[in-house]
Amino acid sequence: MPAKNLQVLLANRPTGWVKESDFRIVESDVPVPGDGQVLVRNLYLSLDPYMRGRMNDQRSYAAKVELGQVMTGETVGEVVESRNGKFQKGDTVAARAGWQHYALSDGNDLRKVDPSLVPISTYLGVVGMPGVTAWIGLNEIGQPKSGETVVVSAASGAVGSVVGQLAKAKGCRVVGIAGGPEKCAFVVKELGFDACIDHRGKLPAALAEATPKGIDVYFENVGGEVLDAVLLRCNPFARIPLCGMISQYNAVERYGVRNLVVAVGMRIRLQGFIVSDHMPRWPEALKELAQGVRAGTIKYRETVTQGLENAPRAFIGLLKGENFGKQLVKLT
Ligand SMILES: NC(=O)c1ccc[n+]([C@@H]2O[C@H](COP(=O)([O-])OP(=O)(O)OC[C@H]3O[C@@H](n4cnc5c(N)ncnc54)[C@H](OP(=O)(O)O)[C@@H]3O)[C@@H](O)[C@H]2O)c1
Repeated sequence: MPAKNLQVLLANRPTGWVKESDFRIVESDVPVPGDGQVLVRNLYLSLDPYMRGRMNDQRSYAAKVELGQVMTGETVGEVVESRNGKFQKGDTVAARAGWQHYALSDGNDLRKVDPSLVPISTYLGVVGMPGVTAWIGLNEIGQPKSGETVVVSAASGAVGSVVGQLAKAKGCRVVGIAGGPEKCAFVVKELGFDACIDHRGKLPAALAEATPKGIDVYFENVGGEVLDAVLLRCNPFARIPLCGMISQYNAVERYGVRNLVVAVGMRIRLQGFIVSDHMPRWPEALKELAQGVRAGTIKYRETVTQGLENAPRAFIGLLKGENFGKQLVKLT
């Protein structure tokens, strides 16, 4: 065990695009667990778009990261010391342990995971929060029926890739929207979507061609011009789970959606959701997702960056679409 704990702190609140200088990397002592506490050594750190919001000082559904605090984030790690009866040295856990090598926990934010069931990295992706997000948003809000057309943006990413595969299993026509030919080829050939559109091309025309019967469910991950183009193709009573709008997270001036008026005449239901509001459904979702991964019916892709010191650069890359699948940082 190294004597020191490496940590990434929030150094500045960015305006517009995040910069590497908005983070500070420091060394501190490895903390010592007190009564009831567990010391976790993080093995993988998940980088997620929501972290951009935690860097801001504004009203949100979750607390912001304070300046000088360790950046918030989910990890998978191993218990290296335990003074809590529920955990033993050697347990593998999913934790909210932040951008650091070691963290203390009282156990309440730890979830024991089975390293023999699926690769441990997947507990941060397809069998973790992003996978559950896809499952909740699609099933609870999207409610697709066999034969309907489902469109999902950021289709090769952690959430979008699962959305499309779940919708396909329900007998839907599934169309992805992704950035670039390589991601689009993966979405169709590997994930089994019916079509995939490059959002950097002429989106309205490509969307019309790929959705000849219109759109019944649009799983929204990006916002901006993509949402505007999709609205024009929506069928009566279409459902739009508003999962995220990553195109707006670094925008100084937000994009004004032009075609929202269509939602009235088409009686479209747009509903935002946050996955952590649906904790009672997590076990069911995680079970189904783990089964799918084990059976090979749910495929996934990961971009693994080596070393915590490279996390800030990888996070900026995620916000710019440089990741291909779930963005992780390997810490060991
Ligand atoms: N509501 C919730 O509880 C919840 C939970 C988890 C995630 N989310 C949201 O779900 C969305 C996807 O998250 P994820 O973890 O799966 O990330 P991800 O899709 O793995 O990665 C982000 C992707 O967003 C796309 N993107 C970035 N900027 C874009 C732009 N300007 N226009 C179009 N696409 C852009 C890029 O893909 P391309 O290269 O394909 O464009 C990039 O790879 C995010 O909006 C996130 O905030 C919500």
